Amino acid sequence: MPKLLSVLLLAALLPLAASAQAGPPAKPQTSAAKAKPSTASSTAPPVDAEGHQWWQHAVFYEIYPRSYADSNNDGIGDLPGIDSKLDYLKRLGVDAIWITPCFPSPQVDFGYDVSDYEDIDPMYGTLSDFDQMQRDAQGRNIRIILDFVMNHTSDQNKWFIDSRSSRTSKHRDWYVWRDGKGPNQPPNNWLSTFGGSAWQFDGKTSQYYYHFFYPQQPDLNWRNPAVKDAMFGVTRWWYDKGVAGFRLDAVDTLFEDPNLHDNPVLPGKNAFGDPKMKNEYNDKLPEVHDVLQGLRKVADQYNAVLIGETWTTDIEELNKYYGPTSNELQMPMDFLFTTVNKLSPPDFRKQIAAANSASGWPVYVLGNHDIERSYNRYGDGKHNDEIAKVMAGMYLTLRGTPILYYGEEIGMQNNDPKTRAAVKDPIGRRGWPDEKGRDGERTPMQWDNTPNAGFTKGIPWLPIPVSYRTHNVASEQKDPYSILVFYQNLLKLRHTNRALLDGDYVALNEDDPNVLSYLRRYKDQAVLVVINMSPQQQEASFDLAAQGFSATQAKTLLTTMSSVKSQTALSDMTLAPFSVYIGEVSNTAITPIHKP
Ligand code: NOJ
Ligand code: CA
Repeated sequence: MPKLLSVLLLAALLPLAASAQAGPPAKPQTSAAKAKPSTASSTAPPVDAEGHQWWQHAVFYEIYPRSYADSNNDGIGDLPGIDSKLDYLKRLGVDAIWITPCFPSPQVDFGYDVSDYEDIDPMYGTLSDFDQMQRDAQGRNIRIILDFVMNHTSDQNKWFIDSRSSRTSKHRDWYVWRDGKGPNQPPNNWLSTFGGSAWQFDGKTSQYYYHFFYPQQPDLNWRNPAVKDAMFGVTRWWYDKGVAGFRLDAVDTLFEDPNLHDNPVLPGKNAFGDPKMKNEYNDKLPEVHDVLQGLRKVADQYNAVLIGETWTTDIEELNKYYGPTSNELQMPMDFLFTTVNKLSPPDFRKQIAAANSASGWPVYVLGNHDIERSYNRYGDGKHNDEIAKVMAGMYLTLRGTPILYYGEEIGMQNNDPKTRAAVKDPIGRRGWPDEKGRDGERTPMQWDNTPNAGFTKGIPWLPIPVSYRTHNVASEQKDPYSILVFYQNLLKLRHTNRALLDGDYVALNEDDPNVLSYLRRYKDQAVLVVINMSPQQQEASFDLAAQGFSATQAKTLLTTMSSVKSQTALSDMTLAPFSVYIGEVSNTAITPIHKP
């Protein structure tokens, strides 16, 4: 993981780990009817008897468009490329794709610097390519989620161009402009998370503008109602085109203290050589919740989902993002698992319990375009493929919605730059060698074992790791023991099994340091998940009477072990190293739904 992000993540999430530790264990519930209410909007029709909304049953998949599939061989992925892979996504079991920004952009932050919110960058295609992709996705029941970069625009956005043109321009107050404290002194000590002061002096009007990210990403002034109106209008514009929701970028930093208090400085320096700092006055200000409630009202008119890039520090803070009456984000991403970088059942148990104690629907994420790939983070270097299945066996069987990161399903690994000159992500150039940037986790999707992994016939914008020769879609599709086939089987099971869709979560054998086990329980039916996270064979035994099940056997639904019988005794289970067992437990006649 890049150092900057790991430091930010840890700083943000340490209190969450602590609260998970101190918080109550997952409470056994006697029936799914007692499970927490869904965070559904009041108007949308539910998809099941439990009142769940479509996004609670859906599997989401993040696509970094530069890196997915290149249709015109310029070395950069594009929308027609994504369109051509929809059948693959359908077969995998994906219901919604979140595409990171594909709008016109100077690409300083690879699309997170938007110069026009209502168009497509020519490198990715055209609006008609988008419409075509949208239609093709709809035809396959796949929804499209776009990335809404709300905190800032590009400095090339027409709003900012006007804003910086004069102190009296129409859009001046759309951004955060202030006088310096004195000659060559920024207004206060706030730092950009990408290095250096968060203030950029603009000679034209002799004032500073504020940017939490790069100087080319000026922060919008969300205290200005005109900004709100314009940005809410952007979401409507895309909903009218059929988009099913947004992932909201950097929501934590929408507001700043209007009095510009200095932030407390902490001991030590970060990877950019800046002093460490507690972002007390420019991060997580309460005003963000009014904006989220407004955005939600618009989303509800379209049965759309809002997913938040929310760096929570504890469950109370996470709860605030769901809203006081479930009227903000349906899916705030809490990044719980991204903080556990070892295969530790006790740690995962705590994180899962914390997620289940939240007031809203849990969202599980193993990786994304800002974090080192899960294959590297959890892998031990010898059993990485087995471990990739172990991680899938866990996060795809929990109560909540998973968001996959492209390539996770084939065991893609990081390919970090070897030299500073090779780095594309500007933070990697600025922070080298402590901060290598995020190129490593953004490399092209590995489709087959032909040159460039079948991603492009041109020169790929980022180099592809040699592991593409074995870890690619075409090869893994043919191998019944591959990571990909395991994902496909698991997602098929998840979509068809009532307990996995709607059941509550009950932790089992909570003292076991090596084997993570739990029940997903729905009425008189339950799914038992048993995951050996250790390199040794392990034994496990279950008495489920306290959970309302007298069964002594489980019906095997799916497992990574080759020698497991179709019925397994609950009192005497042997688990191979790094293995997953998923079985059905029932008080009535057992109906197998999916055979391994
Ligand atoms: C979070 C995005 O995930 C990251 O890639 C980006 O650099 C920042 N927000 C700024 O938009
Ligand atoms: Ca292209």
